[in-house]
Amino acid sequence: MPGAFRARRGAVIFDDLRAIQLRYGFLPKAELEGLSQRTQTPLYQIHSVASFYPHFDLVPPPKAEIRVCADMSCHLNGACELRAGLERRFVNSRPDDVQIRDVSCLGRCDHAPAISINDHILTDVNAARAEQIARSAIRGDDIREPHPEQTRIACKADPYGENENYGVARKLVQSKAWDDVLAKLKAAELKGMGGAGFPTSLKWDLVRKQADPVKYIVCNADESEPGTIKDRFIMTNLPHLLIEGMIIAGLVTGAKRGILYIRHEYHFQEEILGEEIRRCYHSGLLGKNILGSDLGFDIEVFVSPGGYICGEESALIEAIEGHRAEPRNKPPFPGQIGLWQKPTVINNVETFINVPQILARGVDWFAAQGSGGSRGLKFVGVSGHVARPGIFEVPMGTPMRDVIFNHAGGVRSGRQLKAFAPSGPSSGYLPASMIDVRLDFKALAEAGSMLGSGAIVVCDDGTCMLDMALNAVRFYRNESCGKCVPCRVGSQKMADMLARWTQGGVPEPQYRADLALLDELSQAMSLTSICGLGQIVPAPIQSVLKHFRAEIDAHVLKSQCPSGICFTAASRAGEAQRVGIRP
Ligand SMILES: Cc1cc2nc3c(=O)[nH]c(=O)nc-3n(C[C@H](O)[C@H](O)[C@H](O)COP(=O)(O)O)c2cc1C
Ligand code: SF4
Ligand code: FES
Repeated sequence: MPGAFRARRGAVIFDDLRAIQLRYGFLPKAELEGLSQRTQTPLYQIHSVASFYPHFDLVPPPKAEIRVCADMSCHLNGACELRAGLERRFVNSRPDDVQIRDVSCLGRCDHAPAISINDHILTDVNAARAEQIARSAIRGDDIREPHPEQTRIACKADPYGENENYGVARKLVQSKAWDDVLAKLKAAELKGMGGAGFPTSLKWDLVRKQADPVKYIVCNADESEPGTIKDRFIMTNLPHLLIEGMIIAGLVTGAKRGILYIRHEYHFQEEILGEEIRRCYHSGLLGKNILGSDLGFDIEVFVSPGGYICGEESALIEAIEGHRAEPRNKPPFPGQIGLWQKPTVINNVETFINVPQILARGVDWFAAQGSGGSRGLKFVGVSGHVARPGIFEVPMGTPMRDVIFNHAGGVRSGRQLKAFAPSGPSSGYLPASMIDVRLDFKALAEAGSMLGSGAIVVCDDGTCMLDMALNAVRFYRNESCGKCVPCRVGSQKMADMLARWTQGGVPEPQYRADLALLDELSQAMSLTSICGLGQIVPAPIQSVLKHFRAEIDAHVLKSQCPSGICFTAASRAGEAQRVGIRP
């Protein structure tokens, strides 16, 4: 790639580890020792990194490694039954031929259930098809993933349409009106779309004001929370807006380098973005002298070695630097001390694509796109028990009823709505009675939830909400990086407690004590966990206690699951398999 920078000090270790894994299928000890000597890196450091990320295997994998996504959307779409069916089909197989394990969200929540076989993702899959593909992998045949739909979908968010792209960046290189950009983003009240909703103009201004001549722009395309699929859609359909947003961030803040951090399950989007970046270098929009000016900006793609925690901004920085993705204590924030200790802007994919929209069409246009006083357009992923799961572009402020019933086709199979998560496990669950809540930062916060990453997960009236709370807590427990005790131990304690509740037969005094302990644990985790993961673990069960308390009481005190999900032979078998989810 012409002009691309290669100062990826930390990334080198991942490149080396990937090369070894590609050659041997895993990371043999002798190879790690060789790498340690070659790079003068202590072996324990290499091992600590290699053992952290799910992408790397320290022991030889079986011929067919089947991983079944166990998270919300897949759980609602038969993942447990799928796994049980696969276990039956391979009951007599040798462990070096096939192994079946659960895995966290694969980013295909709109095509659940999803599985991966030897890292190839298969969607809308059933046990018979999965068996057929796994058996061909055991024979040594190549697995062919169906190639996703190539036709781009036109989006309202694209200010260019048939016109030449990158108009805003072209003008900005001429005008150098950096203050004007910040003023417009401020007037538009653009907030971060990665979950926390932090004002983008403040973040960019902070980095711009730092005296250090070296600064970075990072795009967070890690998108690993169950139900979250909107960035995948944006990167597929609006790659030019994302790259333009990053270029503008670089120009305004004075950063010369950008890194697009993408989850490794998004190969297709990685290709699209790689192609877009190459086109930009070719047409002079990236490189040392953008469009012949004295302004330079380079972008490279960094493929995540895996794990939900990598999406937390400081963990993501640690990953780029070649370390374990363990979040840093904050402050200092990345805007002051970020990547390689330099001031760094980190924004979500959707945040970046909002920037050229606002600058091309104006603040008034942006404000007018929302409904009910909200601003802008919003991409949401809808999955779970809906007739038409998918990603939809809607005005910010749209009532949830409209999103679920009009865009996503309503609850499927003629069933009733019971609950929905406005944004994956982090947002907790709201009951059907709150279906008119608007898709908006403030409205959802007032409803006791959050806009988060726009990952709407829908549950029909046959769903057990205690089971869903347990599913969410298990996700966090599995994905906790383990750096701090409240999250590492607390998430396990909470998962154990909820698992016990789903099995019933808890005496009332013990239940009361459990509830008190749960509150204490929730508070301790929210107040003392280092990062947002540990802080949010209590949200799903607290929301279920608030809105579906009678259902929990029935499980615990009467050993009854009103939805008929728990206390069945199948659910007991599923529980037995769960031991050792996380090796
Ligand atoms: C556990 C965890 C995972 C996260 N994952 C993502 C992610 O995948 N994508 C993202 O943009 N933000 C994610 N975030 C939020 C980021 O830390 C950060 O706030 C965000 O990238 C900032 O961008 P924004 O201001 O544009 O929202 C995550 C936060 C936590 C605590
Ligand atoms: S809260 Fe959890 S994920 Fe975050 S640093 Fe602590 S252990 Fe790691
Ligand atoms: S792919 Fe299974 S929950 Fe996302």
